[in-house]
Amino acid sequence: MNILLIGSGGREHAFAWKLSQSKLCNKLFIAPGNAGTALCGTNLPVAVNDFELLASACTSNQVDMILVGPEEPLVKGIYDFFKNNEATKHIAVIGPSKAAAQLEGSKAFAKAFMKRHNIPTAAYGEFTAENYAAGVEYLKGHSLPVVLKADGLASGKGVLICKSNLEALSEFELMLHQLKFGDAGKKVVVEEFLNGIELSIFVLTDGENYLLLPEAKDYKRIGEGDTGLNTGGMGAVSPLPFVDEAFLQKVKEIIIEPTIAGLKKDQLEYKGFIFFGLMNDNGEPKVIEYNCRMGDPETEVVIPRIKNDLVELLIATTQQKLHEITIDTDNRSVAAVVAVSGGYPGDFKTGIPVLGLDNEVFQSSLMFHSATKIKKDEVVTTGGRVLVVTSFGNTISEAAEHSNYMLEQLYFEGIYFRSDIGYEFE
Ligand code: AMP
Ligand code: GLY
Repeated sequence: MNILLIGSGGREHAFAWKLSQSKLCNKLFIAPGNAGTALCGTNLPVAVNDFELLASACTSNQVDMILVGPEEPLVKGIYDFFKNNEATKHIAVIGPSKAAAQLEGSKAFAKAFMKRHNIPTAAYGEFTAENYAAGVEYLKGHSLPVVLKADGLASGKGVLICKSNLEALSEFELMLHQLKFGDAGKKVVVEEFLNGIELSIFVLTDGENYLLLPEAKDYKRIGEGDTGLNTGGMGAVSPLPFVDEAFLQKVKEIIIEPTIAGLKKDQLEYKGFIFFGLMNDNGEPKVIEYNCRMGDPETEVVIPRIKNDLVELLIATTQQKLHEITIDTDNRSVAAVVAVSGGYPGDFKTGIPVLGLDNEVFQSSLMFHSATKIKKDEVVTTGGRVLVVTSFGNTISEAAEHSNYMLEQLYFEGIYFRSDIGYEFE
């Protein structure tokens, strides 16, 4: 079959790398892709939210299936657009319907969903300009720290952890009255702060059945030792030594299965990946957030650990036959380290040539491009997170050390990466 993959990050390069290995994949297209995905298939110069142009690209290239990487097209309804369009309704879209994508698109929707289906999560209240005074009262009496979240998509910036009531009140005012996060913050979720260790759990669901994929941990802060500003993710590791069978069993019973049953009960069509951002509080899992897609850079460690044919998994998803499949995972440890542009997550330059990519040492690791393009036969940077190196090892620290070594063989002006990914593990 012919497949169109939507997106342009490291997650999409990892997907493209895996899809291109399948004997079931005839032609692979990536829209818009990057210099790395161009090595796995054909990049199409179409933006991820241009549904009309994506549909005509599908028709002219006889695409049978679409895999959507980022959340924005899902939240904007790409699934429904293809399904309700005569020319494209035969194309299977891997991802949730617009209504189900609200699990990520609206934090208030996700909280109400969890409450309705008894899924453990932090206690919360939701407020708009209409009940502003009630919000102020709620905040005044709240324990600290307190978490404020813009309801809508805010490029990962809409969550504030406030250490004092004064800070919380001031941020609350900025969000609801000054629209600090634009329309995304017209509704604010105020939430109890959860203690524990964060982890990411992923499933692929066909709406009825699900497959549990390898778990991962993502390193969000820019600085070593988890310091400094938040980023899209500076690295990831898998598997996690503290995640044992008993914990996974609990996650399945009290989180994953009630989520899938809840989607079905609420008639929310969902055939795709669900990303559960969890807090493990002494063995008790709670949901911090849902994402309606895979994570980045988590995909760059999860996908290399899956031995199954990915296209086979996606076909079983569309045919609601995931119960017939068993996931086969590589038990080795994996660490992905992200190389970013100097200045990221603040201002940075782009268009900088990346040198050393053809070094033969890279054959012992996987190199995924996150923000690159080819310009006059040269690979140049196009964004903040530029490249990801994923390595295997007997332990997480061995895998991470290998990825660090690989990144030392690369150069672009301003290159920075965290050399402590996986620091808390052996
Ligand atoms: P989110 O966009 O919901 O993933 O939130 C971004 C980050 O904020 C999460 O990855 C957590 O590190 C942190 N966070 C969000 N909600 C909470 C909470 N209720 N308690 C503690 N940390 C939180
Ligand atoms: N790495 C976190 C995310 O993809 O949302």
